[in-house]
Amino acid sequence: MSVSIRQIHPTFVGEVDGIDIREPLDPEDVVAIEEGMDRYAVLIFHDQVITDEQQIAFTRNFGAIERAVGNSITDCQGRRLTTEMADLSNLAEQDRIFARDDRRRLFDLANRLWHSDSSFRVVPAKWSLLSARAVPTKGGNTEFADMRAGYDALDAATRTELAELVCEHSLMYSRGLLGFTDFTGEERETFSPVRQRLVRTHPVTGRKSLYLSSHAGAIVGWPMPEARAYLRDLNEHATRSDFVHAHEWRLHDLVIWDNRQTMHRVRRFDDANEIRDMRRTTILGDAPTATQVA
Ligand code: OGA
Ligand code: MN
Repeated sequence: MSVSIRQIHPTFVGEVDGIDIREPLDPEDVVAIEEGMDRYAVLIFHDQVITDEQQIAFTRNFGAIERAVGNSITDCQGRRLTTEMADLSNLAEQDRIFARDDRRRLFDLANRLWHSDSSFRVVPAKWSLLSARAVPTKGGNTEFADMRAGYDALDAATRTELAELVCEHSLMYSRGLLGFTDFTGEERETFSPVRQRLVRTHPVTGRKSLYLSSHAGAIVGWPMPEARAYLRDLNEHATRSDFVHAHEWRLHDLVIWDNRQTMHRVRRFDDANEIRDMRRTTILGDAPTATQVA
């Protein structure tokens, strides 16, 4: 059987059939997934019972892996997973649920804000692949916004105004929106802002998209309050309900999204009592989107 994809939202998101990602992929399967990602920007695979090693091997078909370092406040001793995986669970060491005031939990709560993964890195992520190893009985959906649709719906004057704008992105901005501001000196160093274009062009399809993220907290050359107010407006526009798809997780779903063309956020669940174990591999992007300052 070969890969088939059914679009499930008017502008994006495909559901994939006919593949077992534990097996080595045929070259034509790799091509079908790449083409599907370029077109649908989010792909959903059901019933993929995989180990971490199988997820990593599957991911490598599509590019080099971005190491999950410098993206959180979890130190090496506290990690449950190898550095090739980002831990999106509510679990600490020995699979214990985070205490309510655990600093790592409070930091991770910013995943409830719309964002694009690793937009705080000089070379931001291409794709994210998230595997559901344990899901809560209620809540914990992941929502996706089609940033091409958001761009396409802008009027011509706004498109012209945005065309050359560059934003500054940092984990400190997204966390700061929720009042998490007590960063150590070392964290401030690690999380120092990087520059990203506000409009991106997809390298294969040539489609433009708004490159927003809760990590974006400034526009280069703009007064801060004016930049923040405008970024809020743009975020409100880009996450209008007709541009959004909510994914209700089933155990062993694997979802891939293109961070260059979408934003996402996780929704609340009873994280004090239920386990949500989600593991992410991430594919490195090709290049910076903007010139950096030293
Ligand atoms: C992520 C993320 C959302 C979720 O994996 O990058 O933001 O549903 N996760 O856990
Ligand atoms: Mn994310």
